[in-house]
Amino acid sequence: MASVTGRRLDWIVAPAPAPLRGVLRVPGDKSVSHRALMLAALAEGRSRIDGFLEGEDTRATSRILQQLGVHIEMPHDGSRVVDGVGLRGLQPCAQPLDCGNAGTGMRLLAGLLAGQRFDSTLVGDASLSRRPMRRVIEPLAAMGARIDSTQGLPPLRVRGDQSLRGTVLRTAVASAQVKSAILLAGLYAQGSTEVREPQPTRDYTERMLEAFGWPIDYGPGWARLQGGHALRACDVQVPADFSSAAFFMVAATLVPGSEIVLAGVGMNARRTGLLDVLRAMGAEIDIEAPRQQGGEPVADLRVRHASLRGIEVPVAHAPDMIDEFPALFVAAALAHGRTIVRGAAELRVKESDRIAVMAQALRALGARVEETTDGAVIEGGTLRGGVVDSHGDHRCAMSLAVAALRADAPVRIGDCANVATSFPGFEVLARQAGFDVGIGT
Ligand code: S3P
Repeated sequence: MASVTGRRLDWIVAPAPAPLRGVLRVPGDKSVSHRALMLAALAEGRSRIDGFLEGEDTRATSRILQQLGVHIEMPHDGSRVVDGVGLRGLQPCAQPLDCGNAGTGMRLLAGLLAGQRFDSTLVGDASLSRRPMRRVIEPLAAMGARIDSTQGLPPLRVRGDQSLRGTVLRTAVASAQVKSAILLAGLYAQGSTEVREPQPTRDYTERMLEAFGWPIDYGPGWARLQGGHALRACDVQVPADFSSAAFFMVAATLVPGSEIVLAGVGMNARRTGLLDVLRAMGAEIDIEAPRQQGGEPVADLRVRHASLRGIEVPVAHAPDMIDEFPALFVAAALAHGRTIVRGAAELRVKESDRIAVMAQALRALGARVEETTDGAVIEGGTLRGGVVDSHGDHRCAMSLAVAALRADAPVRIGDCANVATSFPGFEVLARQAGFDVGIGT
């Protein structure tokens, strides 16, 4: 598969030569970075974002907002200064708006653009062009929006000048992207917009709307706001991304003798499901110096090697660890006993079909993995070296790099360039921790 950069990059990762060590700071949270840019763009006044993720996904959102007339400065890497244009200040752009690989970018922007007075077209790369968009098109249509697609797939042509009305929407899938698209459209709707979810999902949009001064009521699994207010500029400190930290959490757990500290990791309760599951499997992870940073809980995580036992992952945890299943699959393949994952069908419509990609790759390394429609049954054991393919999926690529640490020979991982969408500099940080990652030729 072509990556967003058009490059083809393979990694060769050797078995861990030594225990993993060090204090590591992974890049800023992707979900928070997207939302901070969007709300800052629509606010009145100048906002500063620090800890911003310099990934291709969030940079695509930044470029799109610039195409829509927002002035965004980058004082240095990881920092943005955004001159908000106000709720009605975006300018039309005749060119397609390219979200790259980013489902979050496209779905949230669909909601935001549905409220504008002008038409826009959202496009994405090959992977994003296969991802389902009816989940946002249909609820937005129920609010009066008009979005054309090709059988529910991108490109999305978002028609402007529709009058949106608030309503109560029950989402069919537990998806923070869908909830957020509805809430962003709700800023432009007449009356009250309410979202009810089948299971609670991450509440960053709700928290950040509050921080930018928009009145909102919310709790686990629901949120309600009214149109007709204004967003006020706000400075945002983005925590380190729990999902990026997850690879190192699993790696240090798996490699004998390891001890690492992951610094300043975002600990939003709707994101930390993997922590609970790894601990239930026997992991030794301590939460140190818990604190608040810009309205979000953060902490340092000390991770020591431990041997793991397989478990049945509680279905209720699925939305709270939805991006961490590829890493969990690796932990399960090296645990004692059987791990059962259910209720995670959403994995099939991520940047790749993550159940199929991880099952195929782990089997190529000798693991016993049985796919089910909404999860997998994984028998723990040992792994051998070999050749696997991440199918251009950043999280599968990094998870397979973790698997290689405990294989008996090097693993060649194909199609890793998209790691830059969420975790620029992964190889550098991984080497700093003790991974032996080389580039395949
Ligand atoms: C995200 C929500 C999740 C997650 C994605 C980021 C967000 O997707 O997988 O990486 O920022 O809202 P869904 O909401 O579709 O589950």
